[in-house]
Amino acid sequence: MLKTSSLRINLDRLLNRIDRLAEIGAIEGGGVCRMALSDEDRRGRDLVVGWMKDLNLDVSIDRIGNVIGIRAGTEPGNPVLTGSHIDTVATGGRYDGNLGVLAGLEVIETLNEAGLATRKPLAVGFFTNEEGARFAPDMMGSAVHQGVFRVEDMLQVIGIDGSRLGEELEKTGYAGEAVTGTCRADCFIELHVEQGPILEAENHDIGAVEGVQGISWTEYRLSGTSNHAGTTPMRLRQDAGYVASAISVEARRIANSMGGDQVATVGVTELNPNLINVIPKAALVTVDLRNTNEHKLQHAEGLMAEFVTKTCYSEGVSLESRTLARFKPVDFDPCMVDLVADTATALDYKVRKMSSGAGHDAQMFAPNCPTAMIFVPSRDGISHNVTEYTEPEHLRAGADVLLQVLLGSCQGASD
Ligand code: GLV
Ligand code: MN
Ligand code: MN
Repeated sequence: MLKTSSLRINLDRLLNRIDRLAEIGAIEGGGVCRMALSDEDRRGRDLVVGWMKDLNLDVSIDRIGNVIGIRAGTEPGNPVLTGSHIDTVATGGRYDGNLGVLAGLEVIETLNEAGLATRKPLAVGFFTNEEGARFAPDMMGSAVHQGVFRVEDMLQVIGIDGSRLGEELEKTGYAGEAVTGTCRADCFIELHVEQGPILEAENHDIGAVEGVQGISWTEYRLSGTSNHAGTTPMRLRQDAGYVASAISVEARRIANSMGGDQVATVGVTELNPNLINVIPKAALVTVDLRNTNEHKLQHAEGLMAEFVTKTCYSEGVSLESRTLARFKPVDFDPCMVDLVADTATALDYKVRKMSSGAGHDAQMFAPNCPTAMIFVPSRDGISHNVTEYTEPEHLRAGADVLLQVLLGSCQGASD
C-alpha cells in the first residue's frame, strides 16, 4: 500500500511544462512577454487548459477570465485550492506565477498516477491579470474572485495601450460565464518563486510565507509648457519633466529616510515631446510604494503627496493623480504557515518564515479562507527580468512541499 507521505512529484514532467509554457511569448534572454489578455496570454491559457482537460479536471471559467480546474473528492464541498497566474510583465521570467500553476497540475498528475483519491476536492486555478502591468490594479482576477472588486468595474479598465479590458478578454475567448467566486475555497495555498534575495543568501530551500506587504500605486499626470531649451530662462519654465524627475528622486529619498521595509519605485516616466532641446510639456509618472506596516505605508504616501503638490505649484505645472492600486498588508493563517514549515522540515528542507515583498493572488484569499504560500529561492534575487531563475532542485522542493501540504489539507487521502 502506498504511503501518501512518500509520494513525490515528477520533476522532469514539471520542467517540461515550464519549458513549453515559456515558449509562448518567449523573448530574448530566456524570458517571457505574456501580458494579461494579450494574444500570447490567450495561447498560454489554451495550453494550460488543454493540460487541465488531459488531467480530467472539471474546468470552469468565470466572468473575469479566471480558470479553475477541479478534481473531485470522495466527499462534496469546497475544494482545497492551489494556483497562481500565467500572465507576465513585458520583461518577465518563466517562473513568476507559472510555477504555482504548473506545480499544481503536477500535483494532480502525481495523484492521478498513484490512483489516489482525496476526501476533499482539489483544484488548480490561474487568475487573470495578476501582474497589473497592462491593466491596473494587479491581482485583479483573484480580487474579483474574492469580492474585492466588482467584475463590471474591472471590465471597464483601460490599459496602458488604450484598450478596454472587457474587449480584450472577449477577444481571448476567456470571458466565461461562471459567477466569480462560485468556487469557494476550503483553503488556498500558492507556490511561488521568492523574487527576492533572502532564501538564497541564507541558504534556505523553502520560505513559509507569513504575509504580504501593503502596496500603493499612484499615477501622476503633469502638464506644463513646452518651450525652447536654449532661450527660456530657468525662472520662466513650467517643466513637467523636471517635476517628474524630482518625484523619482523624492521616492528614493522617502524610502531611504524611512528605512526598514519601506521601498519606493518609479517604474514609468514618459515625457512629451521627449526631445533634447524641448522643455517637456507633459509627463506621466508612476510611483509604487510598499511597506509591511500600514501606518508607515500611509506615512510614505502622505510625504509623497505633499511633495508632488508643492513641487507642481512652485514649477507652475498642473497635476492630475489617481490611485491605480491600493492593498493593505495581509497576514496569512498561522496554522497554515506552520503546516508549510513543518511539512518542509519533515521533507528535510531548510525552511524559514518570511514575508513577501511582491504582491500575490494568495493575499486576496487570505481574509476569506485559511491561506499560505510556499517560496523557493530566486537566483541572485532577480525577478521581473528575463534572467529570473530557480534551480530545478528548488523547484522540486517547492512542488513536493506543495504536494504534501495539499494532501494534508485535503485530509485523508484514502491510501
Ligand atoms: C506583482 O508581481 C507585483 O508585486 O508587482
Ligand atoms: Mn507572481
Ligand atoms: Mn510578477
